[in-house]
Amino acid sequence: MPSIVIVGTQWGDEGKGRITDLLAKKVDYVVRFQGGDNAGHTVLLKDKEFKLHLIPSGIFYPHVCCVIGNGVVVNPEVLISEIENLEKQGYSTDNLKISCNAHLVMPYHRILDKAGENRLGKSKIGTTHKGIGPVYSDKAARIGIRTQDILDLKIFRKKLEVNLKLKNAIMEKIYGLKPLDLEEVFEKYKGFAEKIGKYIEDTSFLINQALDKNKKVLFEGAQGTLLDIDHGSYPFVTSSSTVAGGTYSGAGIGPGRLDEVLGIVKAYTTRVGSGPFPTEDEGKTGNYLREKGHEYGTTTGRPRRCGWLDMVILKYSAMINQLDSIALTKLDVLTGLEKLKICTGYKYGDKLFENHPNHQTVLHKCRPVYEEMDGWKENIKDIKNFQNLPENAKKYIKNIENILKIPVSMVSVGPERNQIIIREEDLRKSAFNYNSTIII
Ligand code: GDP
Ligand code: IMO
Ligand code: MG
Repeated sequence: MPSIVIVGTQWGDEGKGRITDLLAKKVDYVVRFQGGDNAGHTVLLKDKEFKLHLIPSGIFYPHVCCVIGNGVVVNPEVLISEIENLEKQGYSTDNLKISCNAHLVMPYHRILDKAGENRLGKSKIGTTHKGIGPVYSDKAARIGIRTQDILDLKIFRKKLEVNLKLKNAIMEKIYGLKPLDLEEVFEKYKGFAEKIGKYIEDTSFLINQALDKNKKVLFEGAQGTLLDIDHGSYPFVTSSSTVAGGTYSGAGIGPGRLDEVLGIVKAYTTRVGSGPFPTEDEGKTGNYLREKGHEYGTTTGRPRRCGWLDMVILKYSAMINQLDSIALTKLDVLTGLEKLKICTGYKYGDKLFENHPNHQTVLHKCRPVYEEMDGWKENIKDIKNFQNLPENAKKYIKNIENILKIPVSMVSVGPERNQIIIREEDLRKSAFNYNSTIII
């Protein structure tokens, strides 16, 4: 101990990578515990932008051990290219560890993800086509292939053979696609094993021993609470447990091991892919937020759907994750808007929902109820102290705190490391004990 988990509170892309990188300076371990290369976490270092899909966002600090936990699904090809890219740019990956129990994304997973989406047509989920749904399905069906399997090629070959029989039949007979060749896939993965074999171990021991030794461990969530397989807007979700509770099974730690839950909240709302989005604005405001906030997918480049901040969603997220505090990101994007809106409820028929509705139809069809606030015009990108923010920006933040009853302990006013306001008065009680010295 101490440990902290960073979770997305909306539909992903809240700035988890940026905040993880910020805190990583003070930690010993950064651990991913779910998701795969559907995630796209951006870290901006001086003028260089890094987009991480599998490697934890602590990789830019040589003292940090970066762990890909058992709950993650690993596409070795993507991982190797990420490792090579970082090494080329001077960032060592010697401190990287991969769980022996993490499942492998196989070529058929990607093919079936895309084929399944095409088959759904207009009802598609809008996945990233990274094979995430199919690989987690195989894990649950107990026919998945794990990283440890490529360390014993005899076992790997057997499992691949069994899988290809089934997957090739589905690809050919249902989707009319070309089957995959066993030898080709085998040789490819044999090559991957040679490159990533050295990183593979039982990371649950590593993490638990680190916590026993009082090392600081940061668990880096991917996606967001509303994309969670259980608590999100199903079926328009991803296939893993994206919430704080997912840390326990996804990293192999017990429930007493987490000291703190930090929720990342974007100052407005975005979503990529299909599914309900009550505060979506398809007009002027949505376009403004997309262009000013550069809201284009990190993984797929798709334009993100944009809209106002939704407190109904955030109240739900605060409860599901038991948030201790909030890092509010991209506040600078709201600068220049004359009026700001915060959604405080949903109107459906003659009913008002102030809390997350128990039926998805309400999310699809409701009308958001807004509270209007005045905006600000001053540039806030270089502000380092909460008191120096424009009054209306402070009001916006305090309103969020009042509704959620959770402190906003950090305010991000730009994508760079030093564009952050740390409210130390809210952090004194933090077991994690991070403070303004994290600023570079
Ligand atoms: P993640 O998936 O949660 O890590 O978020 P992404 O990296 O997909 O998307 C967040 C985007 O916003 C990235 O391009 C970041 O560089 C950028 N970003 C993060 N924080 C801020 C901020 O406070 N202000 C601005 N303008 N951009 C930010
Ligand atoms: P980070 O970690 C935003 C979305 C997809 C789709 C749904 C299912 O960068 O916040 P999947 O490929 O997982 O089966 O797609 O989930 N999605 C994300 N949206 N940020 C992400 O990750 C996402 N990962 C998946 O767009 O709607
Ligand atoms: Mg992202």
